[in-house]
Amino acid sequence: MCGRILNGLRMGFWVGSVALLGACGGGTDSVSGASQAATPTTQWDTLGNLFTTEFSRCSSCHAPGKSQAAGPDMSTPATFHRDVVGKKASDYPNWNVGSTCSQSVNFITAGSSLNSTLAATLDQGNSDTLSASKNCITSFSIHKANGAVLSSNGISNVDSWIRKGALNN
Ligand code: HEC
Repeated sequence: MCGRILNGLRMGFWVGSVALLGACGGGTDSVSGASQAATPTTQWDTLGNLFTTEFSRCSSCHAPGKSQAAGPDMSTPATFHRDVVGKKASDYPNWNVGSTCSQSVNFITAGSSLNSTLAATLDQGNSDTLSASKNCITSFSIHKANGAVLSSNGISNVDSWIRKGALNN
């Protein structure tokens, strides 16, 4: 079951940000295999590349001065890695996070996307798996409502980056 923590009051704040989300996507993803002879050396599952394809949209909320400023700073790869990998909500006592697991499960657990609330926050399948294994409700529905979910290529690249150790690469 996916999370259901829609908060009608907070939704109002996000409407302005949604427009910013539409410009993402693009980029040739080697996972799709459909376009051009994908250069074998192209690795989309690095933090730097994930920022050009997926995570750049996060800072419209998760950055200093934005609505989720009390949480991790996702405005650059360096702050994202510092604030998200191996961290959990209890590291941000002033941040109001809805997931019932985020006090005990890291946003990103290096090596295990299935033990990463971030992966569950952005993908239905990961949300269902985390919910089933740890009996928690995730923030998936919030991100879905705001269009911040990842494409299937995006989530597989994020999963792959986490599985390979969530390096600062
Ligand atoms: C439109 C605003 C908005 C955008 C854009 C957004 N988020 Fe969030 N995010 C939120 C809010 C609000 C919360 C806290 C709500 C909650 O958990 O109840 C949150 C919570 C989270 C959490 C904590 C979830 C948990 O259960 O521990 C993670 C991780 C997260 N966001 C990652 C991201 C990533 C990665 C992106 C970019 C792909 C992103 N968010 C884009 C608004 C946003």
